Amino acid sequence: MNVCFIMCPWHKIIPEQDTTLRLIHECILRNHTVAMTTTHNLTMRDTVASAFCNVFVKKSKVPEKAIDFYEKAVFQNVGLPLSGFDVIVMRADPPLDVLALNFLDSVHDSVFFVNDIDGLRIANNKLYTASFDDPEHRFIPITHVSKNQEYLENVLEDSPAQKMIMKPLDGYGGKGVILIEKRARHNFKSLLDYYINNRQGGSYVIMQEYVKGADKGDIRILILNGEPIGALRRVPSPGEVRSNVHAGGRPVKHNITDKEMELCRHIGPKLIRDGLFFVGIDVINCKLIEVNVLSPGCMVPINRLNKVRLQEKVIDFVENVIRIKDSIAIRKSEFRKAIEDANNI
Ligand SMILES: Nc1ncnc2c1ncn2[C@@H]1O[C@H](COP(=O)(O)OP(=O)(O)O)[C@@H](O)[C@H]1O
Ligand SMILES: [Mg+2]
Repeated sequence: MNVCFIMCPWHKIIPEQDTTLRLIHECILRNHTVAMTTTHNLTMRDTVASAFCNVFVKKSKVPEKAIDFYEKAVFQNVGLPLSGFDVIVMRADPPLDVLALNFLDSVHDSVFFVNDIDGLRIANNKLYTASFDDPEHRFIPITHVSKNQEYLENVLEDSPAQKMIMKPLDGYGGKGVILIEKRARHNFKSLLDYYINNRQGGSYVIMQEYVKGADKGDIRILILNGEPIGALRRVPSPGEVRSNVHAGGRPVKHNITDKEMELCRHIGPKLIRDGLFFVGIDVINCKLIEVNVLSPGCMVPINRLNKVRLQEKVIDFVENVIRIKDSIAIRKSEFRKAIEDANNI
């Protein structure tokens, strides 16, 4: 296969913990041709969507460990047309560069995207969880999103709970997630004003039910083609409301529970429909807090804690899709030839 990763610059990778590096390494071990680029390097070259890529130079012996591979990798810089790739793996860090996706629209039908670019457009913020039908809040916490300050003030006032979570709609890495307590409501107006009016046009703010059990951490589940493939618990550091690794969350082993499986079954079909083949969900007490679609991580600690190599499953899946697409294309050209030959009798 010809695989292109759209990702962060190579030198910014932290090789000890990076999921993208594991995926690239697995492709190289399987002798696929791998290029990597960044959104910054996407280029329209006389109406052909292209990218300045670093293509990995093939070597006879590929280091077995991803960290050694990272240190020894050699690449060649070359401008390449994107439609020549079988698959493009979207692994750029959040926030999503929506304009960059327009460079990819013209190759949408000829390349397999993990994840699909239209799926990324609809799922790249926290409103996406509201698109899973769940009026009784079995899986989705009570969530309000607005720029209307008065409305959000009333949400806190009317809430039967003494505390709620406030966070920006388009946040990531735990940024701006805070716990609001009713007894500290005198600060709430000012905070809300700041969250909403911090930029021109204003920002949407989420007020969400504080999900019980969050103090023991949240569960990250990696979902491939609608099925969970691995999980861990992230335990927040003392006095911290957020479990994100960026906020000091410590990964510990976790076996997916029956109720969490039920949640995965509830959301899996829609994820597939939206072309979101490889995602990481954040779950607290079996409630879905977030679907991470851009560059979900945590594969390395999940691998370590369970002695598995989940990158094999991901690349197996991609290879399988490409195999099916290729065989459909071959059969189509045979059928076309049969029809054209019928004309020549
Ligand atoms: N409703 C909630 N109840 C309890 N804790 C929450 C809630 N929402 C977020 N958190 C905590 O904050 C972390 C970050 O929130 P999340 O919505 O996943 O945003 P981000 O995109 O910044 O990771 C979660 O992993 C969890 O630890
Ligand atoms: Mg999160």
